[in-house]
Amino acid sequence: MSTPRKVVVIGAGPAGYVCAIRLAQLGQEVTVVEKEFLGGTCLNVGCIPSKALIAAGSLMDKLAHASAMGITAENVKLDVHQLVEWKQGIVGKLTGGVGGLLKNHGCKVIMGSASLVSKNQVKVKSSSGEETLQADDIVIATGSIPIEIPGFAFDEKDVWSSTGALAPEKIPGHIVVIGGGYIGLELGMMYRKLGSQVTVLEATGGALPGQERDCVKQIERSLKKQKIKLMTETFAQGYERKGDKLLVNVKTSKGNETVECDQILSTVGRRPYSEGLGLENAGLKVTERGFLQVDKQMRTSVPNIYAIGDIAGQPMLAHKGSKEGLVAAAVIAGQPEEYDVRCVPAVIFTAPEMASVGLTTEECEEKGLSIVSGQFPFAASGRAMSLMETDGFVKIISDAETDEVLGVHMVGPEVTELIAEAALAIEMGATTEDIARTIHAHPTLPEAMMEAAEAVHHMAVHIYQKPKGR
Ligand code: FAD
Ligand code: NAI
Repeated sequence: MSTPRKVVVIGAGPAGYVCAIRLAQLGQEVTVVEKEFLGGTCLNVGCIPSKALIAAGSLMDKLAHASAMGITAENVKLDVHQLVEWKQGIVGKLTGGVGGLLKNHGCKVIMGSASLVSKNQVKVKSSSGEETLQADDIVIATGSIPIEIPGFAFDEKDVWSSTGALAPEKIPGHIVVIGGGYIGLELGMMYRKLGSQVTVLEATGGALPGQERDCVKQIERSLKKQKIKLMTETFAQGYERKGDKLLVNVKTSKGNETVECDQILSTVGRRPYSEGLGLENAGLKVTERGFLQVDKQMRTSVPNIYAIGDIAGQPMLAHKGSKEGLVAAAVIAGQPEEYDVRCVPAVIFTAPEMASVGLTTEECEEKGLSIVSGQFPFAASGRAMSLMETDGFVKIISDAETDEVLGVHMVGPEVTELIAEAALAIEMGATTEDIARTIHAHPTLPEAMMEAAEAVHHMAVHIYQKPKGR
């Protein structure tokens, strides 16, 4: 076996810690430097805590709407303190698990802030002082932070970032959410279920810009059904406190107005995080948007320095960062690996959930592709009916000539789980015929995927479609 390479991984989020473990598995000598918390944004103040609170909101909502099943739950009460403690317990177990895994794999972990001194040296400031590490290779996995807009500095009291919203002391009466993207809608819908009134201010013409339009329309209908007000083409300009209320000044396409609320949650996107990292000392430059540019092997412009995760570009998703971490580890260990994926699935934990993978209809049109699509509604699924969650559908887009699956977009029950089959289909170059011919167990939600594939050819069995060409 060749001499292990000394590798310093900066940042222990889902990109950095996954990379570190894989490096250790491949026999390298690994030091991980983390300045705040093992598990990064994802485990501490992102994916995991948000999904825990969303699950709690869904349970409250189910209990309140189960009378059709003959279940009436009276006096359902929420103990916010207990909820936050329960959520924090999950975070603690997972981050403790990451620490254990790093240790068991022989990775050295230093809790401290890292900066580059040169292309082979990393300075670490920690509570025990300062030290300089020598490295053959450096992996930058410092993630991203929430964007602040003028007039809405995060004080985590009046104005929450997502982090504040994940640790409430009480459920606010009325929340104004700035930004109708991933976080705004996930957490906005969650707070609605926990009892808040919610108004979402979105700058563009609709929620979730860039997502498949049919899916967004369904989500917008759900917002209405849940009595969440979505104000599009609307910009928040500033706010003032008046007694125990907050007055948010907004500019809409129809003029200016004031929205009164008890809490503001600002979620207008995240930006790559490289402050204080000393990139210039190693000859590194960031792009206009602050990302580190990498090649297919996750190498930056300095060949022994790699970048992975949110800092390395869109989409800012945990599983994309982990995949990049695995690629960088293999490359450092001398393997001929590349980030060569056809698609990155995206899952949004709205109510109903939304998930998508591959190309949207708009993207296919922009590329001039000739496409066909098929759609199957959950209203026709026995399983969805038995769950009392019939809103939504599965839509498959395929190449009109080759039948290859190009994109799959879903809204509905458990679609964040269902999308895995679609991702595999695209990675394997499957056709809609492959999916349609695969037996899907009954009664299950994935049957909707099979029927949507059949629907592409006007052959879905459980909805009526006009026979093709007639
Ligand atoms: P991070 O997880 O941000 O980790 C970077 C780490 O680097 C941090 O721990 C930071 O302290 C450390 N660091 C930074 N600078 C230094 C330094 N100089 N020295 C030492 N350490 C440093 N994604 C999904 O895929 N699914 C979801 O459901 C999902 N939900 C989300 C919900 C919320 C509320 C938020 C905010 C994000 C969510 N995301 C989700 C996005 C996801 O959290 C990020 O894409 C992911 O965490 C990025 O991983 P990363 O390892 O690149 O960075
Ligand atoms: P986002 O990019 O998803 O949404 C931001 C929204 O704010 C957009 O709709 C944008 O048009 C709007 N906006 C921007 N400026 C505005 C302004 N001044 N006024 C009103 N609206 C404005 O960003 P978000 O929700 O902050 O999430 C950040 C990232 O975190 C996501 O893009 C995603 O990568 C990741 N994430 C992933 C989740 C998941 O996978 N389930 C969940 C949460 C976050």
